Amino acid sequence: MKAETNKGIFITFEGIDGSGKSTQMELAAEFLRSREFDVITTREPGGTKLAERIRNVLLDVSLGGCVTPMAELLLYLASRHQHSAEIIAPHLERDGVVLCDRFADSSTAYQGAGRGLGIELVESLNELVIPRWPDLTILIDIPEDKAFSRMGRRSPDRLEKEGINFLRVVRSAFLELSERHPERFAVVESRERLEETATHVRNILERFLAKKL
Ligand SMILES: Nc1ncnc2c1ncn2[C@@H]1O[C@H](COP(=O)(O)OP(=O)(O)O)[C@@H](O)[C@H]1O
Ligand SMILES: [Mg+2]
Repeated sequence: MKAETNKGIFITFEGIDGSGKSTQMELAAEFLRSREFDVITTREPGGTKLAERIRNVLLDVSLGGCVTPMAELLLYLASRHQHSAEIIAPHLERDGVVLCDRFADSSTAYQGAGRGLGIELVESLNELVIPRWPDLTILIDIPEDKAFSRMGRRSPDRLEKEGINFLRVVRSAFLELSERHPERFAVVESRERLEETATHVRNILERFLAKKL
């Protein structure tokens, strides 16, 4: 069963690794809390036991290239369904604000475009497992070489090991998605100074809230 809900506010942060999603999401959470919203921040696997185990399998470097793209996609979808049902939908149902670091669009970009399964196929499978599409998706955009150098400081997981060409494909898929779904996407260029990026994100949130409330 799908845990659908029309309540609350659902905002996702997307972009390639190193774009600054996690940093910007935390700043956005602070901003929304200062406006008295009941905010939770989450990311797949969202601390759910099942999804956590699935994630460990997905990021396991020792599996190398022996995971088929479809198996990879279905594991992400299973994890997303659990996370949606256990964490996201219940908070929306309480009329809260859910900020999620990566969600359905990451599968569309990584597995649909990056792994070549096709954007339409992944979007339609996503549709089966999510409570609803986000009300707002903030795409933090950054050139792949810049993201790559920011990430240099940490050790790569199985997907990050795919390298810069893979990131280029994924980045352009995210931009394509923002054009396919202009009603929910806002694209923010990741700046050198994270305060500048944060100001841009805050303006987007202000505009979104003004329209919504
Ligand atoms: N505007 C910025 N300029 C320089 N470094 C940044 C900026 N924003 C984030 N970082 C750094 O880049 C790295 C990736 O940021 P993070 O928010 O974890 O990105 P993501 O969640 O998209 O992978 C972190 O080390 C972070 O401190
Ligand atoms: Mg992150």
